[in-house]
Amino acid sequence: MSKPWSPSTWRDKPAKHIPADYPSVAELAAVEKELSGYPPLVFAGEARTLKQKLAEVAAGDAFLLQGGDCAESFKEFHPDQIRDTFRALMQMAVVLTFAGAKPVVKLGRIAGQFAKPRSEASETRDGVTLPAYRGDNINGMDFTPEARKPDPQRLLKAYAQSAATLNLLRAFASGGYADLHNVHRWTLGFVAESPQGQRYAKLADRITETLAFMAACGITPATSPQMRQTELFTSHEALLLGYEQAMTRIDSTSGDWYDTSAHFVWIGDRTRQLDGAHIEFCRGVKNPIGLKCGPSLEPDDLLRLIEVLNPANEPGRLTLIARFGADKIGAGLPRLVKAVQREGRAVVWSSDPMHGNTFKTGSGFKTRPFDRILEEVAAFMQILPAEGAYPGGVHVEMTGAQVTECLGGASLIREEDLSSRYHTHCDPRLNGEQALDLAFLVAEALGGVRSPSAAAAAE
Ligand code: PEP
Ligand code: CO
Repeated sequence: MSKPWSPSTWRDKPAKHIPADYPSVAELAAVEKELSGYPPLVFAGEARTLKQKLAEVAAGDAFLLQGGDCAESFKEFHPDQIRDTFRALMQMAVVLTFAGAKPVVKLGRIAGQFAKPRSEASETRDGVTLPAYRGDNINGMDFTPEARKPDPQRLLKAYAQSAATLNLLRAFASGGYADLHNVHRWTLGFVAESPQGQRYAKLADRITETLAFMAACGITPATSPQMRQTELFTSHEALLLGYEQAMTRIDSTSGDWYDTSAHFVWIGDRTRQLDGAHIEFCRGVKNPIGLKCGPSLEPDDLLRLIEVLNPANEPGRLTLIARFGADKIGAGLPRLVKAVQREGRAVVWSSDPMHGNTFKTGSGFKTRPFDRILEEVAAFMQILPAEGAYPGGVHVEMTGAQVTECLGGASLIREEDLSSRYHTHCDPRLNGEQALDLAFLVAEALGGVRSPSAAAAAE
């Protein structure tokens, strides 16, 4: 029997990466109370729909695309940013659907992805030491004592920004912008001329031809509304548990608890302690959830975590997000997959090829070589089938904008180019062109993977 759970039981457990230095605990509590009366950002029924779709991924019949900023910020909040991320995700999804021949579940790292775990609790510059920046919903990025002080009012601003972002995403998804007839228009200006842009244009031409043929057969957006719209779900790391608790409500339909801050939340690689606060919180909410799996995770510990997070072995409930690094995935991932297979655990396996491939350049920029990112995804796409499991998804930090944050890619971004458009508030993201390139690579690999359900049917 598992111990009783409520949205606040995490408070009795050790919590890593949650700031303990709010100047006023009373003010924080008042803000959390206020938030708990705000409207939910998502509806529990939507989270259940996503879980069903992820169950299809677990069965090998669909593919998960999860992507967006490492950290959203108040400063970069702009409709163009949201639109460009949406377009880049749509383009990747089209490539994966068409070339990979699988329905794609689209999940943004967006509309709530603010709080960041940091490797160092403080930062020193020119002999001055201040608390680290922890994300815009906690403190400010400027290197001043005032900015670095955690401020509870930021939670209200993050909620408002999440609500506005989600509102625009819902409008794009269902208001006509996502109509497949717009497949050419999603191309971001700077990507159009690149080899990936041209490859995408060819694919878009084929889709347009197919749509014309379907229209001639009488299948149009008027007869098939699903051609006019798409479904985009939202996700973020469930790091700042006071906020997540405030957004957690009982769903009147099922009587279950849902974290209504997003459809999907995940537990980071640094906060997945079995007896820790983050696992305690996530075990009790019914949303589909993710668990980051890095090099320090042992197979037995993973099995214990799965038992706590998904005791009923419900497909779609748990997505394991492998983030090893190109140099470590070969040694680290197969043993985890073997253990999960041996125990018959239903999970979605997804690849985060970003977080294990980060380094700092001599001039102080955190970056990731695009080659390493591709190498890790390619290894993932090969390791899973070799173990009899399905490579179900990718999880990437990306933006539609033309940033210069990851090295390499078609436009050969070099170390000396990083400073020109380095805008991220935390980790380096793929730009629109690199994201599209990655989608083509995954789609090709996916095209060669036989889904477990098809393999079973053939036996
Ligand atoms: C992240 O996804 O931004 C992150 C911090 O990842 P991880 O927990 O895998 O390090
Ligand atoms: Co990150």
